[in-house]
Amino acid sequence: MSDKATLTIEGKTYEYPIIVGSEGEKAIDARNLRADTGYITYDEGFANTGSCLSNITFIDGEKGILRYRGYPIEQLAKHSSFISAAYLIIYGELPNAQQREIFRENIRKQASVNTAMNAMFDGFPARSHPMAILSAMMNSLGCYYPHMASNNREQDLEHFDEAAALMISKVRTIAAMSYRAEKGLPFVWPRVDLRYTANFLHMMFSEPYNTYEPDEDTVEALDLFLLLHADHEQNCSTSTVRMVASSGANLFASVAAGVCGLWGPLHGGANVAVVKMLMEIHKNGDDGSTFIRNAKEGKARLMGFGHRVYKNFDPRAKILGKAVERVLANMGRKDPLLDIAKRLEESALSDNYFVDRKLYPNVDFYSGLLLRAIGIPLEMFTVMFAIGRIPGWIANWREVAITPKQKIYRPRQIFMGPPRRELEDIA
Ligand code: CMC
Repeated sequence: MSDKATLTIEGKTYEYPIIVGSEGEKAIDARNLRADTGYITYDEGFANTGSCLSNITFIDGEKGILRYRGYPIEQLAKHSSFISAAYLIIYGELPNAQQREIFRENIRKQASVNTAMNAMFDGFPARSHPMAILSAMMNSLGCYYPHMASNNREQDLEHFDEAAALMISKVRTIAAMSYRAEKGLPFVWPRVDLRYTANFLHMMFSEPYNTYEPDEDTVEALDLFLLLHADHEQNCSTSTVRMVASSGANLFASVAAGVCGLWGPLHGGANVAVVKMLMEIHKNGDDGSTFIRNAKEGKARLMGFGHRVYKNFDPRAKILGKAVERVLANMGRKDPLLDIAKRLEESALSDNYFVDRKLYPNVDFYSGLLLRAIGIPLEMFTVMFAIGRIPGWIANWREVAITPKQKIYRPRQIFMGPPRRELEDIA
């Protein structure tokens, strides 16, 4: 294969280098295109645009492959934990026992937030969305640690290890606080004896007069949920983090922007939308067939289906689908929404509309049902996604920050508005 791509425009031929990734992904290096030709590329939604070179996560959407730093997601889901996967994603290697203990300890000692932040929760009106609160609070955190949030790259990188542990730890505390603030419940202090995921459940559900003791299956299922959400290469929120980081903005500001990117129903908000859709189908007594018909006619969207990159299956959906069944079976419970979801999946997978468009269940199709099974309230679902995605955002921020001569993200546009016109003296 030639290592150059040839482009002919207006009778003139130009050559551009080919870049081949470590898994054989091919790209045309078009960085000099406009300077050479005066042309830019038009790629709405960036579906064909490689915005960066990255070492973190690999996805092959045609084959349903997802790997963090080379390790298949199925193996990590089986043998690792959220915290070990977070370390892997951020630092590139799985931690040995000593590194894991130090990382855990750094996270553990950052679990509480400055009490001055408590008052900030009072400033939000009742029923404020926890994603709005989370984003505001993650950015505000930087105000308490100005030496880590200086917008001076060298200085921010000097404090990176501490900032990363702090953010992984405090996001979970802030998430639990936002839930309790919205419910008018007192905040619960973290416990030093609990691991990451159990501590989160304690801060969500314990009361000053009644300690919540989560069972092992619940903790394990939530840890798996977090691990499966920990990174997913250049999705909307991660690209947002990188875009903000590319201006030299600090980790706190960049991650806060990522939270906003995640919120929408086409991205992290889909886990809420899926469960609302299943509830609606259940309420209407539909077996799913009316909904499928509406989706095919463009009157509805089958939430939790389809993906920009996966065109075969999303490996996370397979793992999560099995996890929901396991958790419900362990609890001896049934969820009618799971039956509807399975029926929808079965019908969609044998329907030409979905098959032709390569629409398969994505991570959000079953993740909401898992969160529901373990007692997480609906309004917190996307916040749970955000807690899980923090390591990916941190790793991507770092990749931008350590790249020498990193360029600011600044796409171009094709202007289709009115050409120059003159302002008349209307007076
Ligand atoms: N239900 C029905 N039709 C769909 C769906 C769906 N869920 N998704 C895509 N289509 C159709 C779409 O109407 C279009 O049809 P046509 O070619 O006839 O116009 C075709 O499939 C291609 O869709 P697209 O919107 O151009 O695809 P995209 O790559 O821009 O969007 C997506 C990907 C995930 C936003 C989209 O599939 C979607 O809206 N899915 C539902 C929301 C969802 O589950 N989001 C979570 C994504 S995974 C986790 C994450 O990233 O957070």
